[in-house]
Amino acid sequence: MSHLILEKPIRPGVALVRLNRPESLNALNRALVAELTDTLVSLDADPEIRAIVITGNERAFAAGADIKEMAGDSAIDMLILDQFQRWDQIKRLKKPLIAAVSGYALGGGCELAMLCDIIIASETAQFGQPEIKIGVIPGAGGTQRLTRAIGKSRAMEYILTGRFFSAKQAEAWGLVSRVVPPELYLEEALNLAAEIASMPPLAVQLAKQSVNKVYELSLEEGLHFERKNFYLLFASEDQKEGMRAFMEKRTPQWKGK
Ligand code: HXC
Repeated sequence: MSHLILEKPIRPGVALVRLNRPESLNALNRALVAELTDTLVSLDADPEIRAIVITGNERAFAAGADIKEMAGDSAIDMLILDQFQRWDQIKRLKKPLIAAVSGYALGGGCELAMLCDIIIASETAQFGQPEIKIGVIPGAGGTQRLTRAIGKSRAMEYILTGRFFSAKQAEAWGLVSRVVPPELYLEEALNLAAEIASMPPLAVQLAKQSVNKVYELSLEEGLHFERKNFYLLFASEDQKEGMRAFMEKRTPQWKGK
C-alpha cells in the first residue's frame, strides 16, 4: 500500500493502520482516503481482527484534507466525486476503532479522529477545525461531532476562529479519553484495543452500536434499541459461556457466536 502501513495482528486480535504521507503531515488526499476505507472495510470482515487502531506519526495524525488536491475543484466536481460517501463507510464499521493521536489532528484529521470510537492522545496532540481560514467549513462531520463532544459555545469558538486546542483541553472537554506522554500514546491505544479484543465480539459490536445511537435517536428510542440488543445477546453461545464461566470461576472462551 502506498499511503498506509498495515500491521496485523500487532497484538492478538488487533490491527494497526498507520497513515503514511509524512511529507505532507498525512494530508488526506483521495487516494489515501480510498485506501483507508478499503482497508478498514476488509479488516471489519476479517475474523482474526476484533479491534482496529488508526494512527499517524509523532508530528501529525493528519493535517486535514489535501488542500493542494482540492484547491481547483468546482462545486460540481465535489458533487460528482461525493468523497464523503467514503467517510460514511467508516461510520458503518462494526468493530471498535481507536484513534492514537500525536501532533496535528486538524480539519479532516480531527474529523477522522472523531469518527473513531475512542481517542487516545499524546501530550503533543493539537486539535482543530481550521477550514474557516481557507474559506470553507468542516465537511466530514466536524460541525456536528465537535459540537456534540465539547458543547456549542466551545465548538462555535474553535470552528469560527480556526484556532487549535491542546490535548489537555480536549481531555478536559471530553473529546478524548486520555492524554499520555508522547512515548506512550500508541502503546496505550494498542493495549486498550487488545483488552477490547479479548471481550466477547458480539457483545462488543452491539455495545458500540448502542452507544452510537445516542447521536441519532431520542432517549426513548435509544433505550429501546439497547434493550433489543441486550435480549438478542441471550441467543449467543458467548452469553451462555460468559455466565457459566463466572459461576464456575474460570476464564471464558469466546467464540463470537
Ligand atoms: C496539503 C499540507 C496540508 C494539507 C500540511 N501540508 N497540511 N498539504 N494539505 N492539509 C504540507 C505543507 O504544504 C508542507 O508541504 C508540509 O505539509 C509541511 O507543512 P508546513 O506547513 O511546512 O509545516 P508547519 O509550518 O509545521 O505547519 C503545520 C500546520 C500547517 C500548522 C499543520 O501545515 C497547516 O496549517 N496546514 C493546513 C491545515 C488545514 O488547514 N487543514 C484543514 C484542511 S481542509 P511543502 O511541500 O511546503 O513542504 C479540510 C476539509 C475537511 O480538512 C473536509 C473533509 C475531508
